Amino acid sequence: MNLTFIGVGNVGAPLADQLQKLGHSVTIAARDPQSQTVQAALERNPSLAVQAPLPAVAAAEVVFLATPLAAIAAALSPLKTALAGKVLVDCTNPVGPNLSHGLQSQTSGSETIQALVPETQVVKAFTIYGFENFEDSHYPGYGNLKPAMLIAGNDAAAKATVADLCQQLGWEPIDTGNLDMALHLEHMTLLWIKMARGQGRGAGFVWAMLQR
Ligand SMILES: NC(=O)c1ccc[n+]([C@@H]2O[C@H](COP(=O)([O-])OP(=O)(O)OC[C@H]3O[C@@H](n4cnc5c(N)ncnc54)[C@H](OP(=O)(O)O)[C@@H]3O)[C@@H](O)[C@H]2O)c1
Repeated sequence: MNLTFIGVGNVGAPLADQLQKLGHSVTIAARDPQSQTVQAALERNPSLAVQAPLPAVAAAEVVFLATPLAAIAAALSPLKTALAGKVLVDCTNPVGPNLSHGLQSQTSGSETIQALVPETQVVKAFTIYGFENFEDSHYPGYGNLKPAMLIAGNDAAAKATVADLCQQLGWEPIDTGNLDMALHLEHMTLLWIKMARGQGRGAGFVWAMLQR
């Protein structure tokens, strides 16, 4: 697939790198091709392409958004038309002071993004853990049980596309429902951060789903 990344820092870089190595055509939508994160992503994987945001998004089938939440309006507004009809994977998290919800739990970051690009199919994914688990999703010793990636979105076809990418990256995608479920995923993120980084458990744990 043609995949484009807006943001290639801690989260975007490992996903872009691995998806390119899985055979996808991956482009960085760079506001500044010389930025430290773009240069580090290219150093890690010279097969990533770099383009200006507009052509990079226009050529994409799926776009990953992995910027700080504070940057979403600046990043997305010029791309609103180019993003129409495309799948946008929302990897962002609204994290507020003292690990509170950055939008006071009134609405989710994903719904805020969806409102900015109403013609785009927003799917929240790759958010509920720290980036270390996107660097390495392997948890050996659990048989066929895979680490869970909870996703949410309003469009079934878009979610199926994102679920397939999750599977390719070693995750068990779990569809939690429409985009209003993203608020709960964002609270799961806060839970994970508090356990991993606040309580000193470390980043090497994820959730799994057991179902009868
Ligand atoms: N860190 C984690 O463990 C983790 C885990 C899950 C989800 N998240 C969420 O994922 C998102 C990214 O986190 P991160 O840790 O990867 O951040 P990061 O390392 O700081 O990287 C941010 C990326 O966003 C780009 N960016 C910033 N402002 C932009 C703008 N206005 N337009 C276009 N691109 C812009 C930066 O590009 P430049 O180089 O040009 O500045 C950089 O490539 C956040 O919303 C975070 O909450 C983080």
